[in-house]
Amino acid sequence: MDHLDLPQLLAARGTVRLPGSKSISNRVLLLAGLAAGRTEIRDLLLSDDTARMLEALRTLGVGVAPGEGAALCITGVGGVFPVRRAELFLGNAGTALRPLTAALALAGGEYRLSGVPRMHVRPIGDLVDGLRQLGAEIHYLGSEGFPPLAIRPPRQAAVDVVRLRGDVSSQFLSGLLMALPLRASEMTVEIVGELISRPYVEITLAAMAQFGVQVLRDGGQRFTVPAGSRYRSPGVVYVEGDASSASYFLALGAIGGGPVRVEGVGLDSIQGDVRFADALAAMGAQIRSGSHWIEAAAPLANRRLQGISLDCTHIPDAAMTLATTALFAEGPTTLCNIASWRVKETDRIAAMASELRKLGAKVDEGADFIRVYPPVGGQRLHPAGIDTYDDHRIAMCFSLAALATPLRINDPGTVAKTFPDYFERFAEVARVVPVVAIDGISASGKGTIAARVARALGWHYLDSGALYRLTALAACRAGVAWDDAAGVAAIAAGLEVDFAGNAITLSGVDVSEAIRSEEISAGASRVAALPAVRAALLFRQRAFRRPPGLVADGRDMASVVFPDAATKVFLTASVEIRAWRRHKQLIEKGMAASIAALSQDLRERDERDSQRSAAPMQQSADAELLDTTNLTIETAVAQVLEWVNQVPKKG
Ligand code: DC
Repeated sequence: MDHLDLPQLLAARGTVRLPGSKSISNRVLLLAGLAAGRTEIRDLLLSDDTARMLEALRTLGVGVAPGEGAALCITGVGGVFPVRRAELFLGNAGTALRPLTAALALAGGEYRLSGVPRMHVRPIGDLVDGLRQLGAEIHYLGSEGFPPLAIRPPRQAAVDVVRLRGDVSSQFLSGLLMALPLRASEMTVEIVGELISRPYVEITLAAMAQFGVQVLRDGGQRFTVPAGSRYRSPGVVYVEGDASSASYFLALGAIGGGPVRVEGVGLDSIQGDVRFADALAAMGAQIRSGSHWIEAAAPLANRRLQGISLDCTHIPDAAMTLATTALFAEGPTTLCNIASWRVKETDRIAAMASELRKLGAKVDEGADFIRVYPPVGGQRLHPAGIDTYDDHRIAMCFSLAALATPLRINDPGTVAKTFPDYFERFAEVARVVPVVAIDGISASGKGTIAARVARALGWHYLDSGALYRLTALAACRAGVAWDDAAGVAAIAAGLEVDFAGNAITLSGVDVSEAIRSEEISAGASRVAALPAVRAALLFRQRAFRRPPGLVADGRDMASVVFPDAATKVFLTASVEIRAWRRHKQLIEKGMAASIAALSQDLRERDERDSQRSAAPMQQSADAELLDTTNLTIETAVAQVLEWVNQVPKKG
């Protein structure tokens, strides 16, 4: 799927069972692989990043087999990989490439490690420098300081203290520490300068302890792995839910009323990102938690979330979620100490800033901070297509913006890195703006009935046929032929239209009458048959879905544009009555017309609209059929409203 259109949400409420933590999963997999004995891993995250680690472990000779239920059984190698020569491809998984580099550098074989192009511009020099002090033989195959790497068996190390820089990524310290038990002697790692993302080091130490290795700490900067440390399987290991993944749902609860509860992490969590809940609380959200769950709801008494200033060193990943939560706060939000964002899956500061601006927010950015100003003074966020930069977190963060506007997420599949079914879980807690889709054949009364239903409900109204008519008119005025698919699609994508009030304007000029001419009707039918034009108008139609609701009429509202519409109606009427109605309309406008010619014309348009290959007009299986031949407009409108009222309200 190359994009996903998210409808605007009215609210968010419900409970989500979280996928396993990426950080814990990949650590536990590596340690189970290195340990002596068999480990059963329960609640493991199954995603791109863990798949890369599993694939690498299998290649190295680690036993991987399905366990009971959804569990996975790893038969460890007891510190010595049986496969001494291998090439490993690790995609964009930093949590696989970094620790494997350290483990393999001390393992005594010949290995090559590579990843996707982005992985090859993510730094690894500090880790390599640390490992070289231990005698590791590591060579850069591309640029100095970056993967891909070639590893040969290490020389004997003379040192017992390794000095390591900790200010680029805590994964270097984590990787090094996890590899040290592969050596028999005592070894100390001393951090030079600042150590960022400390909570991730805690996860590493907790995982090592589970596998029988206690790291001794001397202050915050020295870590010692005692002589003779060996990994032993603890038997069964449970992986906690992912605290970073929890952040999106907690934010949804805080912005969208809530409560939204996440299960799988709580007060007992070893993951630093659970502290994201404190940041939400500082913004005013109501937070409750238990040992294995956390819940977020909007501020009390209809108050709004408040912008905050936060040093984010302790929650580097979950902090990204604050950047989009900030869109809903009063006053700006400043996130500092986030320089590490620049060397992640993408340059996250730059990516966040440019996508937030697309929605209409003002953003300041610097080397290590971002400041987000929500729209003020009656301005609101507007629909946009969000690029995701092969970065799962950008995709998930921007889904929150759906509480303010319909939007398009490009390449949504990138969430598979850590949360393959994110958007399914999202849909479960999302309460979307409702849609009534009214499709039908030409002159069946759709326009009149849909507009009246919209007025009765106080909802917005979309006359989708008008968009095809506007496209035909704009093409005509620009001298683009109606059968020039690419040319007309470009016109459709760039239409400057406004439906506000009673008039429809094109580039500021009232064209309400012009688009109803017989010539433009014929042109609309021609351009509507072009798949590229239909694709270009799709998101534009979905962008009409604004609170409190939308009534949309056309040919493919129920089947293509709003397949999740709560109410779907298909209108029909005999060709005789439709020709008679059209005749009456034309006579009222002072135009001459023949009923026979109108009947013939309608038959031809029905034929063309239902036979075309792109979205042919047909009744959706789940639509109510309404034959208006013998109905007054009032009766038809009443019937549609009755169907609307029959729809059960979610939650
Ligand atoms: O409903 P209308 O007559 O204004 O529609 C104008 C043309 O556009 C008509 O030929 C059908 C086509 N159309 C379409 O293909 N899909 C829609 N959703 C709406 C209209």
